Amino acid sequence: MNTRRRLWLAGAGAALAGWALRPGLSGAPHDGYFAALAQALRQSGRATDASTPVLVLDRDRLLANVRQVQALKAPALPLRVVAKSLPATALLQLLAQQLQSQRQMVFNLPYLLLHAAQFPAFDLLLGKPLPVAAAAAFYVQRPANGFDPGRQLQWLIDSPARLAEYRQLAQGLGQRLRVNLEIDVGLHRGGFASAAALDEALALLRAEPLLEFTGMMGYDPHVTEIPDLPGARASAEAHAKAVYTQYRAQAVAALGLPAAQAPGLCWNAAGSPTFQLHDGSGAANEVSVGSAFVKPAEFDLPHLAACQPACFIATPLLKSGAFMLPSGVQWLGQLLTAWDRNQRHGVFLYGGQWRADPVSPAGLATSGLYGLSPNQQVLVGSGRQQLQPGDTVFLRPHKSEALLQQFGDIVVVASGQVVAHWPAFPPMP
Ligand SMILES: Cc1ncc(COP(=O)(O)O)c(C=O)c1O
Repeated sequence: MNTRRRLWLAGAGAALAGWALRPGLSGAPHDGYFAALAQALRQSGRATDASTPVLVLDRDRLLANVRQVQALKAPALPLRVVAKSLPATALLQLLAQQLQSQRQMVFNLPYLLLHAAQFPAFDLLLGKPLPVAAAAAFYVQRPANGFDPGRQLQWLIDSPARLAEYRQLAQGLGQRLRVNLEIDVGLHRGGFASAAALDEALALLRAEPLLEFTGMMGYDPHVTEIPDLPGARASAEAHAKAVYTQYRAQAVAALGLPAAQAPGLCWNAAGSPTFQLHDGSGAANEVSVGSAFVKPAEFDLPHLAACQPACFIATPLLKSGAFMLPSGVQWLGQLLTAWDRNQRHGVFLYGGQWRADPVSPAGLATSGLYGLSPNQQVLVGSGRQQLQPGDTVFLRPHKSEALLQQFGDIVVVASGQVVAHWPAFPPMP
């Protein structure tokens, strides 16, 4: 056989093998759940619910998730709601009611002011250490409505230097400030990371009657989020708990807290990835949870298997047809779609480029070749989705934090109907 013939045969063989490896056809129209959600949006009293991108919250699933989290959480540990993951007043109110907990964790000055104004009875712990100027601004702008920062607010402090700044603020205001110390239990995102630094802060607290120590915050999501290498998670958990116990004991001793007083302080730990790992026998005496209640995609964790996704972006489809790459590279698209039939069809959404994945109808995906767009995002599929312009496409957010606020009022669905529109907090980092 001559060389040309051999090459030709090899090429034909490779093409046949490639053809045999073609992805199978996939995709289907909405299932019953999403068909009902789409129908609810169409039947809503607000025309914009089905004609613009909206954030849909399934209240039935939310309430079921509340029950699941409560079943997983140690009964001895009160729950603090992580407000940044659930940024809407009515949503936070409903959760407070369902959980019988007025404890919330807030993360920025605008939301702190909103909380103080809208929830004058709540107990607020900062989830990140704010620059002292932001704390000072709070005392200027805070509502005069009965919310008492001297009883209901804990500032978060991560270093002796910041504590010294807050001391100056307290002295300037002539007011007691309540401070909770952020400790590094292994995440390495900041906070007190050595006994020496902690000692320095504790000495400062001992010397300044205007600063009131209220407890510690040790956030530990790395315990379940680091790669599952043999022993890694177990040792991260043991380390986090041991460090917390050690720092708590150091604070109790240095401040001379009476034995009866320490358990009454706020020893906060966890988040959705780890709240189930605390049982009340360790240093932590309360756990934080936010995202698990709405379960965005990054919270598909084994212990949350019984929780269901409860928030989706719903957006109308503008155009539907054969998927084509732009002129000049159209041939490339034709080659590709000949090989992968799941890219034959293209649908253009109203909006796009959200931090979310298409979830229904099944089998839609972003194109690896056509650019993303916040204006009109194309998704490709086999065509089995049977979508027409005007139909609704659902996407599942990666996170609820910073996303729930992007769509104006949250559209609340229950028992197959739109039952409310909840104003979301203004978008804020
Ligand atoms: C200090 C702190 N605690 C708890 C959480 C947990 O929030 P979620 O339950 O939404 O993951 C976070 C999230 O970033 C956090 O920063």
